[in-house]
Amino acid sequence: MEVKRPEWTSHFSFIAATVGSAVGLGNIWRFPYIMGKNGGAVFLLTYLLLIAFICIIPLCCELTMGKIYKKDAINTFSAINPKYKWFGWLCIFTVTLIPCFYFVVGGWILNYIWVFLTGNLPDNFAVYFSNFSSQIFMPCFLTILFLILTAIFPYRGVNSGIEKANNIMMPAFTLFLFILAVFALTLPGAKDGLLFMFKPDFSQFDKTMILTALGQALFTLSIGMGTILTYGSYMKENTNILKSAYTLIICDTIIAISAGIMIFPIVFSFGVQPSAGATLAFISMPQMFSELPFASVFGLVFFILLFFASITSGISMMETTVAAFMDNLNISRKKSTILTVFIIGLISIPATLSFGVLKDFKLCDKTIFDFLDYTTSNLFLPFNTLIICLIAGWCIPYFWEKAFGKGFIGSIFNILLKFIVPFILICVLVSGI
Ligand code: PHE
Repeated sequence: MEVKRPEWTSHFSFIAATVGSAVGLGNIWRFPYIMGKNGGAVFLLTYLLLIAFICIIPLCCELTMGKIYKKDAINTFSAINPKYKWFGWLCIFTVTLIPCFYFVVGGWILNYIWVFLTGNLPDNFAVYFSNFSSQIFMPCFLTILFLILTAIFPYRGVNSGIEKANNIMMPAFTLFLFILAVFALTLPGAKDGLLFMFKPDFSQFDKTMILTALGQALFTLSIGMGTILTYGSYMKENTNILKSAYTLIICDTIIAISAGIMIFPIVFSFGVQPSAGATLAFISMPQMFSELPFASVFGLVFFILLFFASITSGISMMETTVAAFMDNLNISRKKSTILTVFIIGLISIPATLSFGVLKDFKLCDKTIFDFLDYTTSNLFLPFNTLIICLIAGWCIPYFWEKAFGKGFIGSIFNILLKFIVPFILICVLVSGI
């Protein structure tokens, strides 16, 4: 018996869910740190141009494929041509690997929520973080706890689980973020922070920065692994693709920029290096909070914010895998969720331990955590996005009309889809390898 495919109950739910998927650690943690490393304002300008004119294309492709075929990633590609089924599996492989490192960070977030909730703040967060992350039991337990908390939503299904979670968490998240950003603007380093973000220094411009910006853009928009395609397959018939895609891009970008406005004034006020990198959220930020009045409250709000952002992204990653297993292995949603939890759990444990007992175990000279992060973001995402554009542009007749509309804009986007975007993606891939 054919089960009716669920649909988002409203346009708001659809936008909240796609924004929930896009906005995550990529915006709050990765975006400010990559911008810090790549010269601030020039990076921001490049990123904005790329996101508005390049990334919009694969984003529309995934939404349109979801809307047309109303299937999970694997069945969509095999419906286009049975020869492409392998590519559907590659998308599912990619999206199943991402939570294996992403949820490790989720576990750390849970730990910091606990630290700020109890108010037992350590004196030195650098020492604290390295001691904590290198333990065996606690980090693994928290990674698995984060995994199970996330899995509750796909387990319960699209309308009662995923939709409710996003409708509540995304507005709450945005509100928290704006409050913290306004607070940061009252700090003494606010002016320097804003100048760093918005006053371009064109001498910093180079071509590797363009590629870094593009990689970040794909990761933050959740493009290249069938996630947006799966969420698009629950879309109502009358939804306008181009408008939805731009809404998603604008929301994601406003949130990334707000995260910068929250972080850089603090960074400049406390004399931290903007390029401090991965440690920014887990060492510098809490260290700064602990020196402010009401430390526990600000710290708690910040990590709850990170929790919301990461869980809604985590839900979308898991839902992509769950939907694919359900449809292709012919199992129920509940069984499929359990299988997904089992696979992610199995790989995320060694990734968690790669900060402690397994830190000397290297794959291609990288720890397990870094290997997963590097290969998914820098190899699989650009490669998968390239194939999506090639399939959409060259293998589905009149695809561009369905995705972008027939007018002048549609024809320009068609040229971007067929030639320009694939060329740029090939450049990213070559430099990544
Ligand atoms: N876009 C999410 C972020 O910025 C990450 C993500 C990747 C979500 C892949 C879903 C799928 O954190």
